[in-house]
Amino acid sequence: MSEAAIHFPRGFLWGTATASHQVEGNNTNNNWYAWENTPGKIVEGQKAGLACDWWGGRWKEDFDRAQLSGQNAHRFSIEWSRVQPKPDEWDESALDKYLEMVRDLTKRGTTPLVTLHHFTDPLWLAEMGGWENPKTPKLFSVFVRKVVTVLKDYVNLWVTINEPNVYIMGGWVEGTFPPGKKDLGLAMKVYANMVLGHAAAYHAIHELQPEAQVGIAINYRSLQPSRAWMPLDKVLCNIQSQLFNNAFIGALTNGKLDLVFKKITLPEAVKTQDFVGVNYYSRDLVKFDLGAENILSGTRSFPPGAELSSTGFIANVPGGMFESLHWAHRFNLPILVTENGVEDALDTLRPRYMVEHLHQVWRAANFNWRIKGYFHWSLVDNFEWERGWTQRFGLWGLNPETQERIRRPSVDLYAEICHENGLSSAMVRKYAPEALDNIFPPV
Ligand code: FCB
Repeated sequence: MSEAAIHFPRGFLWGTATASHQVEGNNTNNNWYAWENTPGKIVEGQKAGLACDWWGGRWKEDFDRAQLSGQNAHRFSIEWSRVQPKPDEWDESALDKYLEMVRDLTKRGTTPLVTLHHFTDPLWLAEMGGWENPKTPKLFSVFVRKVVTVLKDYVNLWVTINEPNVYIMGGWVEGTFPPGKKDLGLAMKVYANMVLGHAAAYHAIHELQPEAQVGIAINYRSLQPSRAWMPLDKVLCNIQSQLFNNAFIGALTNGKLDLVFKKITLPEAVKTQDFVGVNYYSRDLVKFDLGAENILSGTRSFPPGAELSSTGFIANVPGGMFESLHWAHRFNLPILVTENGVEDALDTLRPRYMVEHLHQVWRAANFNWRIKGYFHWSLVDNFEWERGWTQRFGLWGLNPETQERIRRPSVDLYAEICHENGLSSAMVRKYAPEALDNIFPPV
């Protein structure tokens, strides 16, 4: 049988992504800690607890794992509540620890990509209204300035805010994230403040580090009308795509935040992106439904017949990855896949999900769209927000009680991909044989 391989551009970044609250453990000074301690907010009352014990020092052994398996980049986040435990107090020892981490990555030849806000806010900030408060963008930029001053000799790639669209949807539309509200008026206010926060951070970073590459990571959801013949499904789908996928990045392009029902001009935000960060996981079909709890949400479902992850959270729709990159390409900037992955404790779907999605990334790269890297979510199982420990996204499994790491087959698959800078038919045959004919069609 003839063997074949597909390759990615030279210098491609191959990494995994993590976030402070999900891996560090003992984060007791942020709004998620308070949320976890409010009955009924997290599945089965679970808590982040010690998480992956990175704050206790286990980041180092996990970085070893990443390096030994050929990853040349890592995306992680800085916990604002650690660096600035009170409005008028900086914790230099926390900053030292982050400095040690980026130095360590650099020494290994691993490129750090640092996220400055990944869903969590310090308690003191939450108490003053968090991102509803018009003072927050400025406060965020003060924190960013502090961090960048300390880390800039080792970090060139920054994500200011992770998935503002998911943060707003969870916190102010669906109420599953703190502060648990369902208030579209406030959601729009938060939207504008987050655009301003990003813009202030962007300008602060460039002032301190002119050569820095700064962007956000947007959660791109591939949305399609549920019924082709139904115009209202199409209208609703377009509204949702604008609100969820397009609005934030649109504002960072031309300074116009278009929230369909409200348009806000934010000139500070014009051209405040050096790359587009795309987090892609799945696709939804959108159905207009007069009986829906929220008419704007309609009813959502996965494409019929799509293979689902173990808790039914993700449908394996690799074509949506291509679509997300096509969408990102329109901003005419370098593109990073800042997250992609699937929850799968038994690792039966992950290998196939991974190769099928990477195949789509490769297809997109062949159009010369400027795709510079791919970060798999995640390096090791970690605390999945309101879904607690019920979802396992790690290449490595974790027993949170014993801190034992479990090597899943995907560790070795991803290592082979990173070493090869591509996929070969031998790899696909070994780890995900069902995907072989699709990726390497028989001749
Ligand atoms: C994304 C989040 C990340 C993780 C993955 C599964 O929306 O950015 O923290 O929870 O989903």
